[in-house]
Amino acid sequence: MLNFEYQNPTKVLFGKGQIAKISHEIPSDARILIIYGGGSIIANGTMDLAKRALAGRNVIEFGGIEPNPDYETLMQAVAVVKKEQITFLLAIGGGSVIDGTKFIAAAACWELGDPWEILHNKGKGIRNVIPFGCILTLPATGSEMNQHAVISRKNRQISLPSASGSQGNYGAMAMHSQIAKEKLSFSNDQVFPQFAVLDPMTTFSLPKLQIANGIVDAFCHVIEQYLTYPVNANLQDRFAESIMLTLLDDGIKSYQQPDDYDSRANLMWCATMALNGLIGSGVPQDWSSHAIGHELTALFGLAHAETLAIVLPGTMAVRKDEKKAKLLQYAKRVWGIQGKNEDLVIQQAIDKTIAFFESLGFATHLSAYNIKEEQIPDIAATLLKHGMTGIGEHGTVTLDICEEILRKAL
Ligand code: NZQ
Ligand code: ZN
Repeated sequence: MLNFEYQNPTKVLFGKGQIAKISHEIPSDARILIIYGGGSIIANGTMDLAKRALAGRNVIEFGGIEPNPDYETLMQAVAVVKKEQITFLLAIGGGSVIDGTKFIAAAACWELGDPWEILHNKGKGIRNVIPFGCILTLPATGSEMNQHAVISRKNRQISLPSASGSQGNYGAMAMHSQIAKEKLSFSNDQVFPQFAVLDPMTTFSLPKLQIANGIVDAFCHVIEQYLTYPVNANLQDRFAESIMLTLLDDGIKSYQQPDDYDSRANLMWCATMALNGLIGSGVPQDWSSHAIGHELTALFGLAHAETLAIVLPGTMAVRKDEKKAKLLQYAKRVWGIQGKNEDLVIQQAIDKTIAFFESLGFATHLSAYNIKEEQIPDIAATLLKHGMTGIGEHGTVTLDICEEILRKAL
């Protein structure tokens, strides 16, 4: 096992009715900004529950955070935080709203010039943040209990209407439909949420597509931390396998029976545990499929999980020699596949993975999104621009290998 340090400061409040407790988690004199997305939390009643829990408190709102949260919108929120002297942020939504809130929290206290540098520096230099908590409504990213955020920036100067709204509330006035040209991540221990409410009831309004997104994203988070090379981290391996097996069981059940509470609760906890640092402690990590996937989102607008369903099987196939030991373990323990012919076992595990993604409605080929072979160099060029020239657990995934993975997925 590799050496590691592990600390996760996020307090989890899991289950039905837990939103009612949030006022105990927020200082009584706080000036609170609720941050949300396109309105799903208003439609499904989560906003009402939060407001009821915060009755009598000093609360204003900022809505309009997009999926793949956009820098320009987030900077509008930063202006509101400063103008209204906000002292606590409450994110209500999926990974995009929570990631966006992490950026707002950091950017509002950033004193080193252009806040986009937070992304270029990958989070280094963040000293203070506005404290924040979250109410998760989409089990997928793990952002609710981790220190990572992924922020996008559209390739243009947006002149947005002034950030003013009715009843003292704010919002990005229009959703942006432009395709992001940059999608970068940052990490810093300061941006762990102080608390995360995980009430599966808030997720029953999710369309099936988003449930599927969550299952695939969580599964791929486990794979990025598991499917590398053995370091005798037996407990981490078993944790990882148990999350994958639970996703194959309760995740699929939750997709097929969207009104079932227990499977949804299990899916929700799986997604959180998949990326809260626990299974990744003391093990090598890959993350190359995510890096390639972020460029596909930035360039072509694919949803995050759509990119992973394409890239991950290609990664398994192209890098099967360096991942051989773990691929065989994955085949045996997750899919129950064994045999003397190791290549065949690995191929069957890859086929099972593809069939799993496809059973959730995902395409696993670039052609499904009309992305052609001649565009692959463009993807490699953006990876180069972002310094992603030697990624993966060994740092050996070169641009050539990235291109090979993408060609495998044509
Ligand atoms: O904007 P609203 O109206 O809330 O609608 C959202 C959005 O349209 C909707 N939604 C959320 N909860 C709902 C709901 N609709 C109905 N009922 C509900 N209960 O779902 C849509 C997608 O939401 P989004 O937050 O974008 O999805 P997700 O949670 O998958 O987050 C994706 C973002 O997280 C990043 C991704 O790259 C992407 O930008 N990631 C963040 C990570 C992290 N912080 O650790 C790791 C991940 O690998 C990932 O990269
Ligand atoms: Zn992901």
